[in-house]
Amino acid sequence: MAGELGQRVSESQDGPVLFDTTVAHIARVYDYWLGGKDNFAADRAAGDQAIKAFPNIPLSARANRAYQARVVRFLAGEAGIRQFLDIGTGIPTANHTHQVAQSVAPESRVVYVDNDPIVLSHARALLASHPAGATDYVDSDLRDPQKILDGAERLLDFSRPIAVMLMAILQHIGDEHDPYAIVATLMDAVPPGSYLSLSHPASDIDAEAMAKMAIVLNQMIAEKVTFRDRAAVSGFFIGLDLVEPGLVQASKWRPASEIEAASPAALWAGVARKK
Ligand SMILES: C[S@@+](CC[C@H](N)C(=O)[O-])C[C@H]1O[C@@H](n2cnc3c(N)ncnc32)[C@H](O)[C@@H]1O
Repeated sequence: MAGELGQRVSESQDGPVLFDTTVAHIARVYDYWLGGKDNFAADRAAGDQAIKAFPNIPLSARANRAYQARVVRFLAGEAGIRQFLDIGTGIPTANHTHQVAQSVAPESRVVYVDNDPIVLSHARALLASHPAGATDYVDSDLRDPQKILDGAERLLDFSRPIAVMLMAILQHIGDEHDPYAIVATLMDAVPPGSYLSLSHPASDIDAEAMAKMAIVLNQMIAEKVTFRDRAAVSGFFIGLDLVEPGLVQASKWRPASEIEAASPAALWAGVARKK
């Protein structure tokens, strides 16, 4: 995309979408770190300042994507899950949830949720489902979990297990919005046998650099961040059974190779089953 600043209009399934390119947004900054093209000058400036504070952030973002693909493969394979609620989807890139899930089980159904207009403008790519399965997109904010659940009901059967995915999004929910209550609302709505999978930027891995990056991001991007330590992230799993290897650094969650295991990832990550 062009680097000029201003307001941009893009098309979505539901018509034109307007987004502001003068302020950095995390979906586009993250796209920049991943080497994507859906970002503007303000996003790249914020992304570069974050890299100065924490040079491993692009590798950490890649490790998070690799973790997500391994999780979805586990959920669709070993865990037998056929329904996914992927909240904080991000701009489409390689290995999106429906692509990975449907490569294992083509009948998988995936509901994507994000609150960023640029992600909405890309929803068509997310809706290219295998004909045996289905995908849907809900334009909604995680701070309103009931709206997400109401939208997800269009596609998902809430009497059957659902994997709730919160990958690198809860850091945008400050403590004043009670992220633990939000996660509990989502998990209360799904039946036993469902899963919670998440990753969360860590305040206690590469602590000094992560603290510097948090300051930069909070000055430069629209969505503020709260990085959390392992104990705080483990609080999201209370009442659920963590599957092996438990809550670990994202690159250490069932890595497919030694290279994956060794990749720097300043995120805590875990998958748990509802009893
Ligand atoms: C860092 S990206 C992570 C993308 C993807 N889940 C991944 O892990 O690769 C965070 C995403 O969450 C979205 N997001 C941030 N705050 C949100 C909120 N309150 N409600 C819904 N989406 C939100 C952003 O727009 C962005 O697409």
